[in-house]
Amino acid sequence: MTTNTTPQPLRALVTGAGAGIGAATARSLARNGASVLVTDIDLAAAQRTADEIIAAGGTALATRLDASSNEDHVAAVALAEKELGGLNIAVNNAGLTIPSTPTADLTDEQWHKVIDVDLNGAFYGVRAQIPALQRAGGGAIITVSSIAGDRALVGMSPYSAAKHAVVGLMQTVAWEYGDQGIRALAVAPAFIATGMEANLDDATAAALPGLHALGRLGEPDEVGDAIAWLAGPQASFMTGSYIPVDGGLLAR
Ligand SMILES: NC(=O)c1ccc[n+]([C@@H]2O[C@H](COP(=O)([O-])OP(=O)(O)OC[C@H]3O[C@@H](n4cnc5c(N)ncnc54)[C@H](O)[C@@H]3O)[C@@H](O)[C@H]2O)c1
Repeated sequence: MTTNTTPQPLRALVTGAGAGIGAATARSLARNGASVLVTDIDLAAAQRTADEIIAAGGTALATRLDASSNEDHVAAVALAEKELGGLNIAVNNAGLTIPSTPTADLTDEQWHKVIDVDLNGAFYGVRAQIPALQRAGGGAIITVSSIAGDRALVGMSPYSAAKHAVVGLMQTVAWEYGDQGIRALAVAPAFIATGMEANLDDATAAALPGLHALGRLGEPDEVGDAIAWLAGPQASFMTGSYIPVDGGLLAR
């Protein structure tokens, strides 16, 4: 008998799920049998992902959620409990970068823009989601960090700071709520072909494939499938971990 197994049926909420890794995660969770609340700051994008899931035979609905808004997280959790019948998987994926800027040249506005979504957004999400997972009898919260949660990313110090910080957040949540059957994980993609790399300078962007042992960027589905597996019952003894999905980048 285990206590850390995500209860069935799977009911999931994903932030930033209108595109990229978040959309891939929502689709993969749905393929694994979860009903999914697809959220994004761009409601039309969230609706597109939900429509794809429904067209493929899954269960999904969409709502607008700005990850930097505490109220939006609280409302989304309430919606999931009302419309899906509960919540036992939460994926805090929404994140953004700004154009590459050396640290001493950053404005307050640039710093806060990244921290508000990539760090505060994860905290608001986790704080709203934990009570719902407790009511569901347990589950998994996964926050999307980055290889920049373990290493420097030159020109991206607010991003790297936020991605390091969410690792500590998830490690702490794992210990605070593990005995209640709640698992907490930080997933760390390397460079994934979603367009985010557009904010890197040209020389850095050209060098990206060669940074990976596999010699290429990752695909969003490769991260989404890993997250869906980690969120599910097969990963019942995994919590508190920083899990690279990185094509070997951190191995060097
Ligand atoms: N793409 C990469 O190479 C890479 C690498 C490591 C980590 N990540 C992380 O993965 C996550 C997803 O990145 P992606 O590459 O799929 O991004 P993306 O830009 O392809 O998609 C991001 C989605 O988030 C939404 N979004 C933006 N601001 C938001 C906000 N304030 N609230 C809610 N939604 C918002 C966008 O509308 C979009 O649909 C981010 O946390 C990112 O830091 C990405």
